[in-house]
Amino acid sequence: MVKSQRLENVTISPGKPPVFHVLSTGAWKCAALVVPIFESSKQRFSSDDLPEDVAAAIGKAVELHGFEGKVGTLMQASGIGPAERLILLGMGKPEKINTDQIRWAGSLLARHLRKIKINSATFHAAGLERANWPILAGAFAEGYSLGDFSFTAYKTEKKSPPPLEDPGKSKPLTLSIICPDQNSAKTVQSVLAEKSVIAAATNLARTVACHPGNVLTPSTLTGIARNIAAANKLKFLVIDAATAQKMGMGGLCAVGAGSASPPALLILEYLPRGIKSNAGKTVAVVGKAVTFDTGGISIKPAADMGNMKYDKCGGMAVLGIMQAAAQLQLPHRVVGLIPTAENTLDAQAYRPGDILHMYNGKTVEVTNTDAEGRLILADAIAYACEKYKPGALIEMSTLTGGVVIALGSVFAGLMAGDDGLAAQLIAAGNSTGERLWRLPLDQAYRKLLDSPHADMVNSGAREAHPIQGGMFLQEFVADGVPWAHLDIAGVAHPKKDDRWWIGDHASGFGVRLVVEYLQRLGS
Ligand code: BES
Ligand code: MN
Ligand code: ZN
Repeated sequence: MVKSQRLENVTISPGKPPVFHVLSTGAWKCAALVVPIFESSKQRFSSDDLPEDVAAAIGKAVELHGFEGKVGTLMQASGIGPAERLILLGMGKPEKINTDQIRWAGSLLARHLRKIKINSATFHAAGLERANWPILAGAFAEGYSLGDFSFTAYKTEKKSPPPLEDPGKSKPLTLSIICPDQNSAKTVQSVLAEKSVIAAATNLARTVACHPGNVLTPSTLTGIARNIAAANKLKFLVIDAATAQKMGMGGLCAVGAGSASPPALLILEYLPRGIKSNAGKTVAVVGKAVTFDTGGISIKPAADMGNMKYDKCGGMAVLGIMQAAAQLQLPHRVVGLIPTAENTLDAQAYRPGDILHMYNGKTVEVTNTDAEGRLILADAIAYACEKYKPGALIEMSTLTGGVVIALGSVFAGLMAGDDGLAAQLIAAGNSTGERLWRLPLDQAYRKLLDSPHADMVNSGAREAHPIQGGMFLQEFVADGVPWAHLDIAGVAHPKKDDRWWIGDHASGFGVRLVVEYLQRLGS
């Protein structure tokens, strides 16, 4: 039988990450000198630590171009002495400066450098608050790395290498940051190293997420996850479809039944050196990886269905988080669980009216085969609780269209059974700019899932859809496990957005947030 093209070995190469240098004195000989300019009537830029002639030339350029320093704007001027170009980079109002503004500026710079085809710049940190240099430089570098993301694996213009390999970019970007303070230079250097790892993990998640459904199937994803695990010395386990069936994972098996590529539960485990698996706190991170969501027999309308290749973004975030956990040598055990299936239809496909026996013994009446994410997640969550007895469980999924209507692409929906965990996640998200808005998980909503034939339906009437999703998942969390559900349907692949670094691709939402959460847990 001829099938549509399905390739078993997809190479994932997200391009070379930027290289950062920290300098403690001005190196004025450079391809581009980048100076932060503030939106302020008093002082547009700081001349601290700048030679007089350089400061005067910058002042002139700002004046000449009437550059206002608004965040999200940039202006290129002619060079000053040994600096071939001068780039004025808008930072916004100094009193309002925050890390998200700085990330934005960093991403804008990276994209500009690619556009003018140079690959290095020197950023003069003067003017940024000295006390906060490490944090601000870290945010700048993070934005710079995220801004340099592109996905060109299927553009044939560049001829070789073969289409499935991301050509990446021939040369990585470099950025030299001048922090004229010996003491902070060291701290800045270590913050940059850490932020590079996190940004690269985010870009990895974005790269895998961008591959389309004909290539990125549950079986190719299994190979990719295996490679990522091996590269990072993570334990890797696959519960394949046959095993899942024997184990009673009725949700995972039903959703994947209509596809030529069978479903699976992928498990990556990071164990810090010298820690026994049952000691200390284990954090389980679960992510939905529906490689393509047609809706199944309850088929979706054609418009925008192509975006359902992004229905794997929760699971891709888990891949990034696991890589970062290993590379940062975080102090806690982290287990990443990725239930993966293609929700499509053939004669074997599950159907409305079916009653499923789930891994934790509960039964579900299928009212809508398009509410598939919760079915595969339910089995993964129940398994995670039973097998790993986590101290916290964080689940991420592009679960409902309702959350897109409610929160758009600015906030992700947070539903949590535990106030402490909710507060920790909100705080982590505020710091990374991946913001969460909490919706109630109240027992009063449970009746929306009542079924006359089984313990619950997978989808009730129209009201409170995002919350129905959360309430459904809660049925599969073991008693006493603090847990949270992040509905990332609106933020995982926002429409082209010029304000920020996302462009037309997957955002990698959740990687930086959960890594920040894990780092804040301390040892
Ligand atoms: N993957 C979708 C949710 C989604 C919608 C993500 C739009 C991104 C953008 C999910 O599987 C789904 O189909 N949800 C349905 C559930 C409904 C049928 C109960 C929805 O929200 O419309
Ligand atoms: Mn669906
Ligand atoms: Zn879906």
